[in-house]
Amino acid sequence: MKAALLSALGTLLLAAAPAWADAQLGERLARASCAQCHNFAKAEGHGVGPNLFGLLGRPAGVAPGFEFSKPHADALKGKTWDAALLDRWLTDTQSVAPGSGMVYFQDDPAKRAALIEYLQTLK
Ligand code: HEC
Repeated sequence: MKAALLSALGTLLLAAAPAWADAQLGERLARASCAQCHNFAKAEGHGVGPNLFGLLGRPAGVAPGFEFSKPHADALKGKTWDAALLDRWLTDTQSVAPGSGMVYFQDDPAKRAALIEYLQTLK
C-alpha cells in the first residue's frame, strides 16, 4: 500500500517536472523574443503588443485598452486562446491572422510548447 502510494507520488512528480522545466525555458524564450513588445505581469500595461497576463482562456483579439489592427481582430473574432490556437499562432502568426501586426515563426515544437507552458502560468 505504502509502496503503491510512493510510486503514485513518484509518477506525479515525474509528470510535473517537465512542465515546470518547460515553463522556465519558456520564460527565458519569452524574455528573449517577446518582451520587447509584450508585458507579462498583471500590473503592467500594454506595450507595442497587448499585455499577455491571463492570455489562456481569454477571447482572441480583445484586450481592454489595446487597439488591435483590423486584420488581426477580424481573423481571430470568436476564437479563444487555448494551447492549440497558441501553437498555431507561434508556428506562423500570418497563417492564423493574415495581416496581423505580429510577424513570428517558431518551427521548433519544443520551444513553442515551452512558451505555452510559461504563458499558462500567468494567471
Ligand atoms: C515586434 C513586436 C512583437 C514581438 C517581438 C512579439 N509580438 Fe506578439 N503581438 C505584437 C502586436 C503588435 C500584436 C497585435 C497585432 C495586431 O493587432 O495586428 C501582437 C499580438 C500577440 C498575440 C495576440 C493577442 C490577442 O489577444 O489576440 C499573442 C498571443 C502574442 N502577440 C504573443 C506573442 C509571443 C508569445 C511572442 C514571443 C514569442 C510575441 N508575441 C512577440 C507584437 C509583437
